[in-house]
Amino acid sequence: MTTRKLPSAGTLEIVPSILSADFANLAGEIGQVVQAGAKMVHIDVMDGHFVPNITIGPLVVKWIRKCTDAFLDTHLMITNPEQYAREFVEAGANNITFHIETVKKPVEFIKYLRGLEVTVGVTLNPPTPVEAIEKVAGLCDMVLVMTVNPGFGAQEFMDDAAKKCRRVRQIVGPKVRIEVDGGINPKTIAVACDYGADTFVAGNVIFGQKDRAAAMKALMEAVKKVRSS
Ligand code: DX5
Ligand code: ZN
Repeated sequence: MTTRKLPSAGTLEIVPSILSADFANLAGEIGQVVQAGAKMVHIDVMDGHFVPNITIGPLVVKWIRKCTDAFLDTHLMITNPEQYAREFVEAGANNITFHIETVKKPVEFIKYLRGLEVTVGVTLNPPTPVEAIEKVAGLCDMVLVMTVNPGFGAQEFMDDAAKKCRRVRQIVGPKVRIEVDGGINPKTIAVACDYGADTFVAGNVIFGQKDRAAAMKALMEAVKKVRSS
């Protein structure tokens, strides 16, 4: 069952990214992955400025909210997230994840987001060193380690970027989720889990296949093997 709450720390979660879904049938697409066990759905917000692509605004989030009780994990790849975060929350986002490069006063912004009653994630781009989030990671519910350069789905997993999960885990301990985003498939999900990630965004590998439930099952089986080994 979905609850609009971030699953408690430590569980392994596959988070379908609707970036690769059929945008003319978002309700159906989301329904399928929720039915297959997704508690969280990842929404990639791109502004054509911070990243070279334009995707979803608060209006679309509002309509997504009406069709699901899944936790809406909202990834803001935008300049000026301070200006737009409230609109996304009012539209129904349950989590706001921002890129550390886009905010001048991250501690204040995190406090502001908490005041809006959402959980908070902070993101590291592949070239950004872990030190950039060292002081704020522990204040967040989630650290998102990008495993591709943000902007597009279906790119190749960057192992060097994923390795940063190890250091992030040392900093945040077991209570903060570590999410990886980009190039996740049954092989790379195991690698990322081994480095310390527990939350796995997956777009193309799920929505690029007809049977979304089978795709999610393959990911879950691959990652569970790592946990049980
Ligand atoms: C990339 C986005 C990702 C993307 C992942 O900029 O943040 O969420 O949808 O897509 P796949 O799983 O296809 O690499
Ligand atoms: Zn994303």
